[in-house]
Amino acid sequence: MNTSPLGRCRLLLGFAALLGFAGAVGAASSEEPIVIKFSHVVADDTPKGQGAILFKKLVEERLAGKVSVKIFPNSSLYGDADELQALRDNNVQILAPSLAKFSQYSKQLQIFDLPFLFDDLAAVNRFQQRAKGRQLLTGMQESNITGLAYWHNGMKQLSSTKALNKPADAKGLAFRIQSSPIIESQFAALGATPVKLPFADTLQAMADGKVQGTENTWSNIYSQTYEKYQPYMTETNHGVLDYMLVTNTKFWYAIPHATRTELEGIIEDVTFAVNNAAEQQNVDARQRLSQGKTKLITLTEQERSEWRAAMQPVWKQYEAVIGADIINAAEQVNRKNAGK
Ligand code: LMR
Repeated sequence: MNTSPLGRCRLLLGFAALLGFAGAVGAASSEEPIVIKFSHVVADDTPKGQGAILFKKLVEERLAGKVSVKIFPNSSLYGDADELQALRDNNVQILAPSLAKFSQYSKQLQIFDLPFLFDDLAAVNRFQQRAKGRQLLTGMQESNITGLAYWHNGMKQLSSTKALNKPADAKGLAFRIQSSPIIESQFAALGATPVKLPFADTLQAMADGKVQGTENTWSNIYSQTYEKYQPYMTETNHGVLDYMLVTNTKFWYAIPHATRTELEGIIEDVTFAVNNAAEQQNVDARQRLSQGKTKLITLTEQERSEWRAAMQPVWKQYEAVIGADIINAAEQVNRKNAGK
């Protein structure tokens, strides 16, 4: 490959304005500042990448001398394979893995991987804000992982070396997936071969022909330059790729109360900014792709319902694992009038 995603400085519009959040400058302290290492696997010009940058900026404004933040993007410190263990060992203090990457620590969180459960990001947001969704933030404390917030990326699309109009078109193709049993079953249900790979290895696997397709959000697809190897993209919106901002529980509760409260306020502000900007970032990335060489396939309602019918059988497979009560709660809030 000749152009690395890192080299492509494509700042997505809309976030810069949100960086205008100004905070009170914290009092300097003679003690050593607390260092928070924030590691993630995506590019800076994505919802999560921008969220990390805003978090650092606000901490430096409001907690100057007390807390400092070091960001490690693009799997430059830890990648998918080792980041959660590094967090549990306190080698890194904040991560925001996609919700698909917690299956080892939380069966219930896998709900977010069920295909066609949520119609859109607004429905995802409603579920995350309600009691059942919020409970999931504290469900991994036995593993020394505490959820601080949900951050949005967006709805997932399919990309491939060939046109995917109907579910049968995916048959026989290898798709790179995140390490999620449900996503594995989803592609198996299509007669495709799911290949679990770290995010950082995906572009190379496409270049090598090891995989012929993948699923991801527009902002991830665009910032990783998948279109170099995946000329066809199908707008399926078949699932969600969101994040949980997590910390090491012992580290977090050892932070002095006043500082921790300030950090929690910062996280609230950053979460608000990330979650307001994410959808637009995906719209912008989609537009840039469609203005390039990408062949963008949009589906009719009938075609989309065929994809739904092909993927949805995995719900039954995982109902007992996740819990029917949680699935029902998500279905309730998915109704368009649920937020009213
Ligand atoms: C992926 O592995 O495709 C995503 O989880 C990457 C990310 O963090 O958005």
